[in-house]
Amino acid sequence: MDKELVIVLDFGGQYNQLIARRIRECNVYCEVYPYTLGIEKIKEMAPKGIIFTGGPDSVYNEESPRCEKEMLELGIPVLGICYGSQLMSYLLGGTVKTAPVSEFGKTEVETDGGSVLFQEVPKNIIAWMSHTDYISQAPEGFRVCATTSVCPVAAMENKEKKLYATQFHPEVMHTQYGKKILSNFVYNVCRCTGSWKMSSFVDEAIKSLRNKIGNGKVLCALSGGVDSSVAAVLLSKAVGRQLTCVFADHGLLRKNEGDEVEAVFGPDGPYELDFIRVNCQERFYEKLKGITEPEQKRKIIGEEFIRVFEEEAKKIGAVDFLVQGTIYPDVIESGLGKSAVIKSHHNVGGLPDCVDFKEIIEPLRMLFKDEVRKAGIELGIPEHLVYRQPFPGPGLGIRIIGEVTAEKCRIVQDADAIYREEINKAGIGKNLGQYFAALTNMRSVGVMGDYRTYDYAVVLRAVNTSDFMTAEPAQIPWEVLGKTASRIVNEVKGVNRVLYDCTGKPPATIEFE
Ligand code: XMP
Repeated sequence: MDKELVIVLDFGGQYNQLIARRIRECNVYCEVYPYTLGIEKIKEMAPKGIIFTGGPDSVYNEESPRCEKEMLELGIPVLGICYGSQLMSYLLGGTVKTAPVSEFGKTEVETDGGSVLFQEVPKNIIAWMSHTDYISQAPEGFRVCATTSVCPVAAMENKEKKLYATQFHPEVMHTQYGKKILSNFVYNVCRCTGSWKMSSFVDEAIKSLRNKIGNGKVLCALSGGVDSSVAAVLLSKAVGRQLTCVFADHGLLRKNEGDEVEAVFGPDGPYELDFIRVNCQERFYEKLKGITEPEQKRKIIGEEFIRVFEEEAKKIGAVDFLVQGTIYPDVIESGLGKSAVIKSHHNVGGLPDCVDFKEIIEPLRMLFKDEVRKAGIELGIPEHLVYRQPFPGPGLGIRIIGEVTAEKCRIVQDADAIYREEINKAGIGKNLGQYFAALTNMRSVGVMGDYRTYDYAVVLRAVNTSDFMTAEPAQIPWEVLGKTASRIVNEVKGVNRVLYDCTGKPPATIEFE
């Protein structure tokens, strides 16, 4: 292995990819693997360091996830976090118990400057805790290097064996100096040099895609959104004309979007791609007729997409691989890890059980949205494309609450176009994570001219977010909202009321379904 690698071993915690992302932010390449990876594989991969994640289990339960004790004897530095720290202690003969008081949330921690982990970290910090068990006694050979009022061992180290552990979560934003603690581990313990950049990811991904695909033919499911565009350009750099991009215009896109995507990726655009646009609006509307349940809509749209791609693949002939621009939040919210299903993102959990491709390739699966954007810039994709608003695969299908019809699509497309125009005129779009109009299935009474109306209510949404896993409602200036509302009711037939959504994520989600 010619690059510095840190491995995160996943014991079922919530923040596993966040740890990997923080390490990548330190310019050290990092990947997450299941805790079952095994010692032989680890030896082969020769990582510079290993991080054990948190997890919901108790080390004393028979079925709790465990790794071999020998993993701690390889001479490779290990950092255990939360459950990972308890596991380290348990495997090496320390004592883990149920804490007299559980600690959840922000907790005062007293650190010991003598530890390399806490170099340039103040003595007293606030750290994020989430545990019911704790290490009551560190294993022999370990020194306690942080405590809380509840935890006698909030962090411990065995310098000689390069083993470190924290009961708290340094990867979480709420932990003060958390990134510094992780960077102390990768630089001062693992001795990484920090030479990795997003350009290295791009180069590595191109190399491994070439290896995997060989002379095979690839079909990329292109929606024109940031993720699938980055995936398409990555693939085109890797395998050139072996790639065909198929853009399914399902009639659930934003206003004029189909033509805009074609202008960029079609024959007149800057990329050397084989591009096929499939106009399949009617087919999707037909499938969605009478369907109101959000998950069912998502699954239908996801399945229909795949059927379109399969049909196109048959026409091209001998296509082995389907490429999708799935990114990490799609995976986690579709509940493919240990986490609960929030919603089935169409390119992940919305996939039908049986898919007529040899393999599905998702080269961006472990990246967060902002990392995908950095990869896009590295690939030379123009900024206006890379910084486009994210748009969900099921499109307006999940922005129209209740049954989807062509008429409702027209309403939400027109309202959304007005909203976007007003946001852009006001020059506030760049600071917003995502903003769009959706259609409620509520109709209410209004008056226009001297007539009674009984029309739909459009809802406007704008959120601030960087990772799309959490979001705050954005404070859009009243003049912008007022102008947008007035234009929508005047210009969009079928709407007599405009609402603004003031909820964050959690408890809401960004999309409505
Ligand atoms: P939620 O609504 O889950 O959205 O808070 C988080 C981010 O994911 C986008 N999103 C999707 N993207 N396929 C996608 O490619 C999907 O099925 C899907 N559902 C939501 C959403 O627009 C937001 O950016």
